[in-house]
Parts: sequence; structure tokens; C-alpha cells
Amino acid sequence: MSKVTVVGAGFVGATAAQYIADKDLADVVLIDIVEGIPQGKALDLLQAGPLNERSRNLVGTNNYADTKDSDIIVITAGIARKPGMSRDDLLKTNAAIVKQVASETLKYSPEAIYVVVTNPLDVMAYLTWQSTKLPASRVIGMAGVLDSARFQTFISLELNVAVEDIRTMVLGGHGDLMVPIPRFSTVNGIPITELLPAHKIESLCQRTRDGGAEIVSHLKTGSAYYAPAASATQMVESILKDKNRLLPCAVLAEGHYGIKDVYVGLPVILGRKGVREIVDIKLNDQELAALKKSADSIKENIQTMQQLLVAV
Ligand code: APR
Repeated sequence: MSKVTVVGAGFVGATAAQYIADKDLADVVLIDIVEGIPQGKALDLLQAGPLNERSRNLVGTNNYADTKDSDIIVITAGIARKPGMSRDDLLKTNAAIVKQVASETLKYSPEAIYVVVTNPLDVMAYLTWQSTKLPASRVIGMAGVLDSARFQTFISLELNVAVEDIRTMVLGGHGDLMVPIPRFSTVNGIPITELLPAHKIESLCQRTRDGGAEIVSHLKTGSAYYAPAASATQMVESILKDKNRLLPCAVLAEGHYGIKDVYVGLPVILGRKGVREIVDIKLNDQELAALKKSADSIKENIQTMQQLLVAV
């Protein structure tokens, strides 16, 4: 019986717990620093079991001992940026949280694979890898799957074509510099470059880059959680079922695409051991330059984070 721990019982974490149980992927432990929230949400989700005809166990807790022997740890713990808070303040706060969560969970589940969701994503995935000292194949950031799903959605809306037939590839960091690759984005195998004019494709790419901000502008007090939770669930599924799906995920680049020592979104094959391989696709000069620019910006944020953590 597989076991997945979701750290952070907020919007993303509780929704991920729901999807993981509803898809019958694993028993779920939902853990949070706040007392009562994970217990209440897990119990509520458990009671949805008979209605949704699934019998996965869901436990809410504040005690890391309950996460023992998890196959996967999904980290969603953190805070969202509040008005008046600088990006560095957010970075410092979430880095301290993620570092503590990574070491607590590792104590009880030394064999686990980590799926990191907390933002700033690529930096938090790097920090999890660095503080757990696990092989990089077992620490994976969730972002490319979400950004690709957003791109798929916008293409589907534009072409009025079933979303299931649309496949997209969004690489790079989970931010303004992400790199949607239209050449590798298809409608049932037909590149979208054959179906849409360049200016239209560019506007869909821009809407994808702004995908998170567009939702925040509606919600005002929170950020997206259904699609982020579904994206983490898709990664969990590919790992637990050893599906070997080819998905864009934040992984440690070790010379791939000419990039080194940074977590960044690249196409990977995801199976039971985590990242089976990073797939090196030939990018054109423009795509490669955009990917490197994105990686450079993540590197700068990693350096900032390291300085901030030293100062804690
Ligand atoms: N240990 C465990 N849980 C913690 C800790 C900690 N040290 N610190 C904070 N949390 C919990 C909070 O108590 C809260 O329940 O993390 C949860 C975060 O939930 P929300 O505030 O609802 O945020 P959410 O929308 O779920 O986003 C979580 O995912 O997509 C990213 O940008 C998003 O970084 C954010 C994260």
C-alpha cells in the first residue's frame, strides 16, 4: 500500500490530498504546523470516501512520526506573498519552512521521493535537494506540468478543440521567464505552429507566463490551487505507477542544455525511482537562449536565498 505525505494542509495541500485519494493512488497523511486544520480536513476527506467510492485512508496530523515510511513527500507548506512583503521576505520565510520540513520528513522517510510545490518553486526544489542530500533524481519540483496544462487550456480555448488532444511543453523556471515551446506543442501531433499565426501563439504564451498572476488578480487573497494540486497529483501518479511519463519538471541540471548547478524545468521521464532521465531535445538558438536566461535568474535567486538563510 503506497503512502504519500502532503506537508501543508492549505489550499494546494488539501486539494492534492483529495485528488490523490480520489484517484486511488495512495493512503495520505496531511500534516501542518497549525493544530486542527489537517485533522479536520483529512477527516472531512475521509468521509467523502463512501460517496466517491474510494477507501483510501487519510490522516491529519501535526506529528512527523505519523509520516513514517512515506513513498512520496509533497511539500506545499509555506506562505503566500502578502501586500507590502518583498520577494526576499517571501524567499526567506519559505526557505526556512521548506528546510525544516525537508529535514523532519527525511528523518522518518529516508527512502521517499520529494515533489516540491512551494514557491519560489525552482529555488525551493534546489533547497530541498541541498538540505536532504538525496540523489537529485529523488527531488523534483512541480511547475512545468502546471504551466503546460495552462498552455494546453489556452490553446484549447483558442482552437475550440478537445483539450485531451493538446500536448504542450513549457520549460525553464516557474516565473516570468518560463519558456513555452510552440514547436513541441501539438494538437494530436500537429504542431500549433501549423494551426495558428505567430502573433496568436505569442499571446497564448504570454497568457501562460501570466497564468498564476491572472488567477491571483481574480482571487485577490490567494493563489491558484486546483491546477497546481492536479499537477502534483499527476507527478505522484507517474511515480507510484512507474508510468515513465515524459513531463516537464524542475530538476537539477548537470550540464544539460549547457546549464549546471541549478534546478530548472526540463523534460524528464518520471518513474518509480523518480527522474529516470532528463531528455535532451535539440532546441533552436532562441529557445536555448531563453532557457539559459531563465536558469540564470533562478541561480541568482538561489544565491540570494543562501545569503538570507545564513543571516537567519
Ligand atoms: N510546517 C508545516 N506546514 C506549514 C509550515 C510549517 N513550518 N508553515 C506553514 N505551513 C502551512 C500553513 O499553516 C498552511 O496551512 O502551509 C499551508 C499553506 O497553505 P496556504 O496558505 O493555503 O497556501 P497554498 O495556496 O496552499 O499554497 C502553498 O504552494 O503553489 C504554492 O505559491 C504557493 O508557496 C505556496 C504553496
